[in-house]
Amino acid sequence: MENTVYKDLIQKALCSREQSYCPYSSFAVGAALLTEEGKVYTGANIESASFSPTVCGERVAFFTAVHNGETRFKAIAVVGGKQGEAVTEFCAPCGVCRQVMAEFCTNDFEIILFDGKTQKVITLGALLPASFTKTNMD
Ligand code: THU
Repeated sequence: MENTVYKDLIQKALCSREQSYCPYSSFAVGAALLTEEGKVYTGANIESASFSPTVCGERVAFFTAVHNGETRFKAIAVVGGKQGEAVTEFCAPCGVCRQVMAEFCTNDFEIILFDGKTQKVITLGALLPASFTKTNMD
């Protein structure tokens, strides 16, 4: 993909991160998910006082998109760091989010990370090799 596409997704993820509800961890995550048709759905992490209902920013983006009828995706940008501060470290998706990505995406789906200076692009296949998917049940 063109570098401008990556940069736009990172900007949208940074902007979405500002909507994070994270009073327990104070760790704010933003995500911007690009569909095959070029639409972008954003998300941010939403926490709960009983902790386990917490949903990551990536899954908020995915579930919003799927709820809007989308099932074909190209890439996602993910940014995270201490709430109220600029992003300074890469924030890779957790295992549960990787599994959700594997539900809808192929191994060439791109995950774009940003540490405030540099962008890094990793494929889903590299982040979740030998995954369990619907094809295992065929
Ligand atoms: N979190 C995400 O939103 N995405 C990730 O990939 C890693 C973790 C959130 C969950 C929780 O609200 C906070 O970061 C600390 O774990």
